[in-house]
Amino acid sequence: MSCRHEIDTPDVDTQLMELIASTSPDGTVDHYILPRETDYAAIPQDPRNPLTQTKVDLGQMLFHETGLATDAFHTVGIGTYSCASCHVADRGFRPGRAQGIADGGIGFGEFGEDRQLNGGYAENQIDAQGIRPLSVLNTAFVSNTLWNGQFGAGGLNVDFEEQWRNNPETAVNALGYEAMESQNIEGVTLHRMDIDKELAEELGYKELFDLSFPEFDEEERYSKLTLALALSAYLRALTTSEADFQHYLRGDVEAMTPDEKAGATLFFAKAGCVRCHNGPNLGGDSFHAVGAKDLWQHPDALFTSVDDKKNLGRGSFTEREEDMRAFRVPQLYNQFGNEHFLHGSSKSSVREVVEYFNEGVSENDMVSQDQLSPFFTPLNLSEEEIDQITVFIEKALYDHELDRYLPVALPSGNCFPNADVFSQWDLGCR
Ligand code: HEC
Ligand code: HEC
Repeated sequence: MSCRHEIDTPDVDTQLMELIASTSPDGTVDHYILPRETDYAAIPQDPRNPLTQTKVDLGQMLFHETGLATDAFHTVGIGTYSCASCHVADRGFRPGRAQGIADGGIGFGEFGEDRQLNGGYAENQIDAQGIRPLSVLNTAFVSNTLWNGQFGAGGLNVDFEEQWRNNPETAVNALGYEAMESQNIEGVTLHRMDIDKELAEELGYKELFDLSFPEFDEEERYSKLTLALALSAYLRALTTSEADFQHYLRGDVEAMTPDEKAGATLFFAKAGCVRCHNGPNLGGDSFHAVGAKDLWQHPDALFTSVDDKKNLGRGSFTEREEDMRAFRVPQLYNQFGNEHFLHGSSKSSVREVVEYFNEGVSENDMVSQDQLSPFFTPLNLSEEEIDQITVFIEKALYDHELDRYLPVALPSGNCFPNADVFSQWDLGCR
């Protein structure tokens, strides 16, 4: 392994920059430069939900607010979970375990790893999905959200209006909001949360709602809709603009080590990762079957099975044969620290994922050979090359300052992201 003080010849950087530029749609590296979180003019947003500092701040608190958890399945669950139960900042806004559990879970551990089924809940009463939670980092750059891209009327879904109109889960797309806003309107109900004027007042958010949503009549200002809009504004502002790769793209050639640069060179050329991971967030607006195992095949998974329609990926939404078992290409920032990778949490480190792509052999018997992406083939990388790609992802694509996206405290004084008794001990709230 090389270390930071080894100096590269300028050629390395010129060549790498040229290579990266050559893979971008506009022929410059700008395509891959993420806006800073406060650069609202540059962050993609919904014209019906313009970003403002107040709205983003409100969304940040509400994303972590356990006081919104009013629709729990059992009374014991009320006030114990939040969006951040499954999207933990310290774990790149993933759950810290193979599957996220909000209502029906107890405990937290250090970063979500110790959350367990609450003994008072039956498995089918908990809020947990049959697929690993996606990171919500850099989601402003996702045109259609979820692993199957089912939200949003535009983008990749323009030809699928019949499918989303006929499905009660996605009928929300007809409201005319972008994917993020549409999904979150459904999401607050799915995750058993609510708000009204009294609750907004009681928890200390009324004034922030007033400042964020002056265009809404007072009767409509404190609702699931405005809650979803504030959450969406916050999520749009979650960019990993301080990752070393971002500093490098902005011109600081010393921001990456020689090994990280070698890894980037492989990523954008020989290893062909960029064929699929090609958006500003190094995810992509495309769907591919790479034969990863489903979550029901994971020993710790609850409330999912071989028949879960989440297993079908894009096909569960489009119902087209060619989309079966194909999943959206996820973003690649802040992977480090996680131990659960791919949609079924079948891999436990970034290196294992890189090895998997290098071998190019499906691990899931449910996926047939002809469903696999034509880009999923053996890459013949050396061990050193696998290490270099791994270090590029783990270190260069890591923003160390995600704490800037966490509230210091909530106006309600509630414990977050969970507030059941076990979590309160784990989180130092008592
Ligand atoms: C019980 C765990 C859980 C909770 C609670 C939860 N999420 Fe998620 N989230 C998930 C899972 C699982 C997915 C992926 C689901 C899929 O693709 O089918 C996801 C996906 C998302 C995505 C899509 C990201 C992308 O790139 O497509 C967004 C946005 C999101 N969640 C926002 C929220 C918000 C806002 C809340 C609170 C209202 C919330 N989540 C609460 C589990 C959770
Ligand atoms: C055929 C398109 C394709 C290629 C080529 C590809 N990926 Fe991916 N990548 C995906 C898809 C799709 C997923 C999610 C698959 C799933 O979970 O079923 C994924 C997942 C990942 C993940 C896990 C992210 C998470 O949230 O769990 C990492 C890390 C990753 N890819 C890195 C790479 C690297 C490094 C390369 C090049 C060696 C590469 N990928 C090549 C499509 C691709």
